[in-house]
Amino acid sequence: MLRLRPFSPNDIPAVAGVVRESLRENYSATIYLDIHKWWRDGFIVAENEGRIVGFVAGVNNAPYNTRILMLAVLELHRKRGIGSALMDAFLQQCALRGMRTVELEVRVSNETAIGFYKRYGFQIAGTLPRFYTDGEDGYKMMRHL
Ligand SMILES: CC(C)(COP(=O)(O)OP(=O)(O)OC[C@H]1O[C@@H](n2cnc3c(N)ncnc32)[C@H](O)[C@@H]1OP(=O)(O)O)[C@@H](O)C(=O)NCCC(=O)NCCS
Repeated sequence: MLRLRPFSPNDIPAVAGVVRESLRENYSATIYLDIHKWWRDGFIVAENEGRIVGFVAGVNNAPYNTRILMLAVLELHRKRGIGSALMDAFLQQCALRGMRTVELEVRVSNETAIGFYKRYGFQIAGTLPRFYTDGEDGYKMMRHL
């Protein structure tokens, strides 16, 4: 049974686990608290049988614009619609807040995620040279609501 709900600070260890496994990043707990403070409705977790298996976190970074900072689902739980459920819930929050555009960055090599975002109507809006700490370029992707 999949359940989507707002992030709460108690979820930090589980969310950090998803980030380590799926995004290969190790962030300090304060990052999650900061994102949560910026925009509570834009930080949503997906629970399967009571365990967090994915999440989306975004911020309202400019008037009428949101930026997805992280979207990830544990590898074992992918291709079952959890990423889509998270994206739908996120876009619904954006619409409720009267947002007009959503933007995100993605590694140019991440074909799975690029395909996923294109299915959601995101388009590549530009290349970000050496955007990632390991030197890889990123794509800026955008969609209108
Ligand atoms: C991108 C990501 C979040 C997608 O999560 P997901 O849970 O696999 O997403 P979904 O299951 O909703 O959709 C994935 C694909 O599976 C397909 N799918 C969904 N349910 C399915 C089912 N029951 N049977 C078969 N295929 C299915 C979807 O059509 C979709 O295909 P597409 O991407 O070719 O359009 C996930 O791949 C991920 O965590 N990647 C690593 C982290 C990452 O790269 N994040 C983005 C960085 S910016």
